[in-house]
Amino acid sequence: MKGVILAGGLGTRLLPLTKVTNKHLLPVYDQPMIFYPIKKLVQAEIKDIMVVTGGNNAGDFLRLLGNGKDFGLKRLHYTYQEGEGGIAEALGLAKDFAEGERIAVILGDNIFEDDIKSYVASYKKQKDGAKVLLKEVPYPERFGVAEIVDGKIISIAEKPKNPKSNYAVTGVYMYDEKVFSIIKTLKPSNRGELEITDVNNAYIRNGSLTYDILPGWWADAGTSFEAYSRANTLVHESRLKNKDL
Ligand code: G1P
Repeated sequence: MKGVILAGGLGTRLLPLTKVTNKHLLPVYDQPMIFYPIKKLVQAEIKDIMVVTGGNNAGDFLRLLGNGKDFGLKRLHYTYQEGEGGIAEALGLAKDFAEGERIAVILGDNIFEDDIKSYVASYKKQKDGAKVLLKEVPYPERFGVAEIVDGKIISIAEKPKNPKSNYAVTGVYMYDEKVFSIIKTLKPSNRGELEITDVNNAYIRNGSLTYDILPGWWADAGTSFEAYSRANTLVHESRLKNKDL
């Protein structure tokens, strides 16, 4: 299985912090934001990783990460997303890298307390399809929200006004090779982006989306100053408990 980290976009929700840098390079407590998703994939024994970046400071990823030696990697792959076409468009750029293998995708601004290794292992046993990781949150309307009936996700709504549950779809997604043909069928949403939620709904329609619910904390560090600040606090608290993030 290969890994893809999505770290594009202009980070406008964190302006002016992102005026001269990419949001995924901002510090979260003692490390640059992108270190956390890279470590999550490496902990799950995914060592073949592509970083999809974008914006004006893409070269800084190479300066910071190089070939990923600090994470025990032999090399890192990079590609560049022009403009702000959305998460699904960014993922589409990883098609040649994936070479038909299954992929674990993680958003570059998502930080997780839990190790995702066991979820990746259970996805590997799944015949085909996709898996998402959910987290129960107090304000689901800020995220993609799963509607669950009889233990199955029957739909996901992107930032709904009236959420059907408190289960947010976090920024870890596991896909088989069909994901790239699904992305080709997508149309831009109201915010002008190809939505990852539309990809997941396509897997729901063909009956092959599974999920797990994360017990530990989850921080979507790049969505607001409040979320960014909370991520710093959560990492700090975990460091005090010697948790390996
Ligand atoms: C994106 C997804 C959303 C998901 C969230 C997790 O939102 O569209 O479904 O819940 O990431 O971080 P965005 O950060 O693009 O607003």
